[in-house]
Amino acid sequence: MMQKFKILVTRKWPKKVEESLVSTFDTTLNVEDKPFSELELIEAMKSYDALLPTVTDPITDKIISTPDRRVKIIGNFGVGFNNIDIESAKKNSLVVTNTPEVLTDCTADIAMLLMLGVARRGSEGEYHVRKKEWAGWRPTHMMGTKVTYKTLGLFGMGRIAQAMAYKAHFGFQMKIIFYDPYFNDNKIIERFKAKKCNTVDEMLEDSDFVSLHCPSTKETQGIINYEMISKMKNSAYLINTARGDIVVEDDLVKALQDNLIKGAGLDVYEAEPKVNEGLLNQKNVFLLPHLGSATTETREAMGMRVFDNIKAFFEGTEPRDRVV
Ligand code: DGY
Repeated sequence: MMQKFKILVTRKWPKKVEESLVSTFDTTLNVEDKPFSELELIEAMKSYDALLPTVTDPITDKIISTPDRRVKIIGNFGVGFNNIDIESAKKNSLVVTNTPEVLTDCTADIAMLLMLGVARRGSEGEYHVRKKEWAGWRPTHMMGTKVTYKTLGLFGMGRIAQAMAYKAHFGFQMKIIFYDPYFNDNKIIERFKAKKCNTVDEMLEDSDFVSLHCPSTKETQGIINYEMISKMKNSAYLINTARGDIVVEDDLVKALQDNLIKGAGLDVYEAEPKVNEGLLNQKNVFLLPHLGSATTETREAMGMRVFDNIKAFFEGTEPRDRVV
């Protein structure tokens, strides 16, 4: 039997996953689901073998470099790991894992929901009905934008972008174009009859919907600013299910106010859970609270992926989702 390693879970996880963790490790759960402070995380680094944070826990260099650190592996609950100082983890020989693949479809579904929601004025319409403002069907009532046959521009062509391309191309007969200088898989490009754009500008200029699918890195943070948005068609929409800081939110608000684009569908924000007041005041936006992976099936699968990763690590084998 495996030695009972001490692990700390920083937030409440799906019951099924918590039960697996408790049955295998000496597990401390966060029953109240309150985020840990930096000081609490530093203390945790000294007394646990593994730390299991999630995408909203900043795991800084200060936390990772804790003297007398006992934690040997960070099993992040999330595919994104921009909450962790990866350079510091490398420098301190700390293993980090993430949870890829299992959330691909659900996140792409939310991107589709945002695209349809903003184009067809979904939340506006729902609000209208609930507020008892609806005066009945009429030919010019709440007209939106048709999605079928339009051009979808993907910024980044990783797993989630490909899943969205699949749904959009085969479900909605959309033309797929993308910008991703690192993506050259011709089989996939041919499958979607996609067009690889040589520049971001080309993708922005030709799209009816632009959907962001790149990680948040030094290169991509703030890349979607006023100038970039101004390259999009006036009739186009911006969709973001990736990370909020890829977009300069104040610039997006100004671009919407200046009618540079027709609308935006957002699941992620620059300073979550704070949402820019300018966005809240805008009618032509469809806003969700970071729900990309939020289905029971996916959240359980994400948790089990963390479980498998740390179990493999403590059994002395390579965790399948090792980032560093
Ligand atoms: C992730 O995993 O990175 C998402 O943002 C949350 O599912």
